[in-house]
Amino acid sequence: MAEHESLEFGKADFVLLDNVSLEDFMANLKLRFEKGRIYSYIGEVVVSVNPYRAMNIYGRDAVEQYRGRELYERPPHLFAIADAAYKAMKRRNKDTCIVISGESGAGKTEASKYIMQYIAAITNPNQRAEVERVKNMLLKSNCVLEAFGNAKTNRNDNSSRFGKYMDINFDFKGDPIGGHISNYLLEKSRVIFQQDGERSFHSFYQLLRGGPESLLRSLHIQKDPKAYAYIKVGGQVKSSINDGADFKAVADAMKVIGFTSEETLTAYKILATTLHLGNLTFGVDGDVTLIQSPETVSVIGELLSTQQGNVEKALLFRTVSTGRDVIDKQHTAQEASYGRDALAKAMYERLFCWIVGRINDVIEVKNYDARVHGKNTVIGVLDIYGFEIFQNNSFEQFCINYCNEKLQQLFIQLVLKQEQEEYQREGIPWKHIDYFNNQIIVDLVEQQHKGIFSVLDEACMNVGKVTDEVFLQGLNGKLAKHVHYTSRKLSPTDKSLEFDRDFRIKHYAGNVVYSVVGFIDKNKDTLFQDFKRLLYNSSNPVFQAMWPEGKLRITEVTKRPLTAATLFKNSMISLVENLACKEPYYVRCIKPNDVKSPLLFEQERCRHQVEYLGLLENVRVRRAGFAYRQTYPRFLQRYKMISEFTWPNHDLPSDQEAVKRLLQGCGFHHDVAYGKTKVFIRTPRTLFSLEDQRADMVQRIVLFLQKVWRGTLARTRCRRMRAGLVILRAYRRYKVKSYVREVNRRFKNVRTMKDHGRHVKWPTPPKVLRRFEEALKNIHSRWWAWTLIKGLNPEEVLQVRAKVATLEALRGQRADLGLQRAWEGNYLKRDSPDMASSLALVSGELQRKDKFMRVLFSCNVRKINHFHKVEDRALLITDRHLYKMDPQKQYKPMKSIPLYNVTGLSVSPGKDQLVVFHTKDSRDLVVCLQGMLPPAESRIGELVGAMLGHFKSEKRKLQVSVSTPIQCSMNGRKCTIVVETKINQSQPEFTKGRSGYVLSVPGN
Ligand SMILES: Nc1ncnc2c1ncn2[C@@H]1O[C@H](COP(=O)(O)OP(=O)(O)OP(=O)(O)O)[C@@H](O)[C@H]1O
Ligand SMILES: [Mg+2]
Repeated sequence: MAEHESLEFGKADFVLLDNVSLEDFMANLKLRFEKGRIYSYIGEVVVSVNPYRAMNIYGRDAVEQYRGRELYERPPHLFAIADAAYKAMKRRNKDTCIVISGESGAGKTEASKYIMQYIAAITNPNQRAEVERVKNMLLKSNCVLEAFGNAKTNRNDNSSRFGKYMDINFDFKGDPIGGHISNYLLEKSRVIFQQDGERSFHSFYQLLRGGPESLLRSLHIQKDPKAYAYIKVGGQVKSSINDGADFKAVADAMKVIGFTSEETLTAYKILATTLHLGNLTFGVDGDVTLIQSPETVSVIGELLSTQQGNVEKALLFRTVSTGRDVIDKQHTAQEASYGRDALAKAMYERLFCWIVGRINDVIEVKNYDARVHGKNTVIGVLDIYGFEIFQNNSFEQFCINYCNEKLQQLFIQLVLKQEQEEYQREGIPWKHIDYFNNQIIVDLVEQQHKGIFSVLDEACMNVGKVTDEVFLQGLNGKLAKHVHYTSRKLSPTDKSLEFDRDFRIKHYAGNVVYSVVGFIDKNKDTLFQDFKRLLYNSSNPVFQAMWPEGKLRITEVTKRPLTAATLFKNSMISLVENLACKEPYYVRCIKPNDVKSPLLFEQERCRHQVEYLGLLENVRVRRAGFAYRQTYPRFLQRYKMISEFTWPNHDLPSDQEAVKRLLQGCGFHHDVAYGKTKVFIRTPRTLFSLEDQRADMVQRIVLFLQKVWRGTLARTRCRRMRAGLVILRAYRRYKVKSYVREVNRRFKNVRTMKDHGRHVKWPTPPKVLRRFEEALKNIHSRWWAWTLIKGLNPEEVLQVRAKVATLEALRGQRADLGLQRAWEGNYLKRDSPDMASSLALVSGELQRKDKFMRVLFSCNVRKINHFHKVEDRALLITDRHLYKMDPQKQYKPMKSIPLYNVTGLSVSPGKDQLVVFHTKDSRDLVVCLQGMLPPAESRIGELVGAMLGHFKSEKRKLQVSVSTPIQCSMNGRKCTIVVETKINQSQPEFTKGRSGYVLSVPGN
């Protein structure tokens, strides 16, 4: 029940009327129309009054207002019913359909377009390209179908001259994935004839007024519609329709849908051929029938891509099979004209059906597998020609009005009859509401043997001369007593009926007088086989595809085709069956006046429509009835989470009890009734409130499930991590163990190895054991060192100490430290063997005098003094003194320096043998070791080691520095000593430099 709208606009839902009377209903409808409220509800049925003006109520903001809302939440609107159908489809996985009914010009087609626009606007939030494509096709198809299937009539400038039922298929997410259009009986007689004030199908005028010059020239047609007999009448009609602009829009739409330019051109060719056909006239010369404008035939031949002769023959002759022979039988001029008209109508009808077929090819659901994509549901939209009464009503109007009877019957079945029957069946107290059941009229038309269609078919089947009058006589004979049928013969005083021509039917929507003229022909719908063959044999493949039955040879055509009436009846029956199995939503359209005025509300006209549409009965049933019903188990299944008694399962004796308990708990007891198998809910508000509560609970359930599931996931993850950790630990342990085992294996026999395992390659340790490996290597090195030195004598120990000291002081700073060889220390003896005796003498003398314990080092040297004097000397370093001796004078000791006076040593980083002894009294001694054997031997390392070893044993510090140039102090004067390499030098040589001395050493 719609609220949210002030009462100044009347009651938005007729169910809310204080008094359910026709007067009140009309007053409310009028008030709403005048206030610009064109939509109202009767429960879930939308009543729409054609506003005949553009309304600003279909925009994006309106869509947003209705999207996902319940019916009663917003003022009545088509969007609300579209949303309800969409929601029902999505929520309950049910196929739904929206049936739009009302008379011609009441606004059905417009309504169907708004509904489709709404569905397109609310679907595909993810903008999937494929879905967008389908939506675009569905929307674009309207424009093409209207061009070829709509025409201006006296009642409606854009009257649908065909019935249209469109299925839109949705995937499980609710996005449109395709569709299918079914078309019903096109009023093809309009191709050759229109009543005064009417036009033929829009397509003809669009081509003439909008087609480019070159196209018209190639089709041999001119712009003026009045030049063509078939549309001459319509060509004189003034209208506000913009055919030129429409032509372009349709051409664009056809392109978007996927018609090739060849196909579109063929469609234009068919339109042009039709126009040319209309201008063909036949004459007689003796007993020969002639075509009076042969040049037109050649144009038709060209347009149909066939020989002119073939066209001519098909128009003038008929091939007849006489059993054994096949002969060409010439038409009379009248037969030829009949054939021409039949051809024009049939070609247009085929064109229309072919267009629908091509659109269906494009929009049909492709690659859908229900097992993968879920159930594919459907919303059907039915927009079919409305009930109509013309000046002259013929076979087409009869069919159209029969169709409306069928739909009214469906409405009655679903809304009025079934509903009331259901209440009785379920044992709900119910006071029957009377309504007019139009089944009797449906039967009048379609009943077997007695119905009008049957009589018509029988008449057509008769051999011999069959006329429309014979058919009328048949009707009069069979239906004389029927209360809804009459004719002049049955009511001789009724002057509105013509003898032998008219019959009248009392339709649910009013009385209609039909003229039987043309009924037989239209029902037989004969098209000579020659034309089918002509078109099939065209070299244009589109014609071939349109006329497959032209393939049959004349002798093969035997079976009588179904009549137009039977075909139409069958299609209506299947349409109604299709609608009946879906959940229906109704839009009942009302036409407020006949002059297309936005202001005029013609009371009588509207009252008539309200009456025949059964709207008042609808209100009564609705008011007395229930908005919603559901079997107990299904109801529980949907709402059981609302109540603690029913969630997750109830323990009451029956589902009915459980539903009662649930509804009592919610406080809805007064608004429901309990049937034998179903629960009935009176107002939609209760249902929506149930839905709200359900949505609330579903959220919680979802949260709960999410919680449980998240917990499960987290626990699984945790278990995995723990397992991982255990594996990791075990693996780590394994790696450590295998490393230790491997080290063990490799170093097992290290004691017996010659090099005590120095050559053994260490295995690569796992990352965690890198520091352990360092420590292990250290231990091994220490053990190895210990093994090496443990067997040494004191002398060797001293030597090792000296070497270690050298290594510590000079490692990395000088190239050759002489560590590899044995250090002898006292070299003078070895270097000068011939002087050994005098050396021993001098050294013994000095030992006695100075009481030294041992010789640390001795060697021949070249020295420079502070007088720049270069002299060769011998150096003897004992544990107490440093002696300089003259080798020229049997090593006579010269000056000595007590070792406690020596503070440090300086050497250069090069290969030279320069060494400076720094003294406390700044009388540094600068010497270069020389006279060595072998000559390339370096003794600097040994000298430094011997001195350091001694100083260390005396716990004194000796400063050793490696630098170049070397800074020293000679007799208190600071100077530098630079080492230079000279290629041609044979001996090291001191010379005076700028700020000290230069030692030139031989280079190589
Ligand atoms: N909602 C609307 N807003 C504005 N104009 C409308 C609306 N509905 C209908 N009309 C006007 O009424 C005209 C007729 O409407 P429509 O073609 O939908 O009628 P119909 O019921 O389909 O008739 P038919 O049975 O002849 O096809 C439209 O061309 C348009 O001018
Ligand atoms: Mg229409």
